[in-house]
Amino acid sequence: MVLASLSLAVAALYLLSPIAFAAPNPNAGTIVNLRIEGRSHTIFEGPVFTRGHNVTTASAGTIHCDGTNHGINPEPGPTATTALDDAASIHGFTWDGTPFTGFDDIFVTSIGGDTQTTTEFWGILLAFEFTPVGGCQQRVKLGDHLLWAFDAFSKAHFLKLDGPHTARRNKSITLTVTDGATGSPIAGATANGQTSDENGHIVVTFDDVGLKGVKAEKPDSIRSNRLDIVVLP
Ligand SMILES: *[C@@H]1O[C@H](CO)[C@@H](O)[C@H](O)[C@H]1NC(C)=O
Ligand SMILES: *[C@@H]1O[C@H](CO)[C@@H](O)[C@H](O)[C@H]1NC(C)=O
Repeated sequence: MVLASLSLAVAALYLLSPIAFAAPNPNAGTIVNLRIEGRSHTIFEGPVFTRGHNVTTASAGTIHCDGTNHGINPEPGPTATTALDDAASIHGFTWDGTPFTGFDDIFVTSIGGDTQTTTEFWGILLAFEFTPVGGCQQRVKLGDHLLWAFDAFSKAHFLKLDGPHTARRNKSITLTVTDGATGSPIAGATANGQTSDENGHIVVTFDDVGLKGVKAEKPDSIRSNRLDIVVLP
């Protein structure tokens, strides 16, 4: 009740004083966790700052890419494709895309030299689920887990790797591989030379100290996120 009257008061103030209570700029920019899994290696994995802006590709020229594409969002903001474009320019890899006619968007054909074939295409996932719209229509927000994956549409699973962030030298730890979308354990995935069992568990041991970036792989699946593990003496 107190909360309700408080929000009413805030709403009233908002209406009375549009300048003091102006809505935040939806295109001020945000930081997403971007991962780009190429054909045989990870092209990029890390945080990226992005906002909606025009993007230019060799095959599509310049197109706006701020989520207002195809009228799908009323306000401009950061998108799945601007995150890709901003990571590419800062971290020095290339990408290309052709006009996605009818959707006012870009169909991404190539990232980091991995170019689509007649059967293998780039897919976009948010929180391990395919996005329902194209990359310049798909708005992204703070902390999103955004994945661009090569040959995404023929894969059985999008792997997720969890486990401890520290380990002792020569002491085993157990990592867990799951399907990122369903949470089901995945058997037969490999990480650090070991293979997951039917519970998705992989027992690994490191014989030297330092920071280890471990990923799980399986031929029928998109490789996992990188699990960072600090190995202590
Ligand atoms: C963005 O691209 C559109 C074409 O899609 C163009 O009309 C517009 O002038 C561009 N805006 C900027 C700021 O470059
Ligand atoms: C850790 O294991 C490796 C390989 O078995 C061995 O060579 C090394 O001496 C061990 N290190 C320590 C500190 O026990």
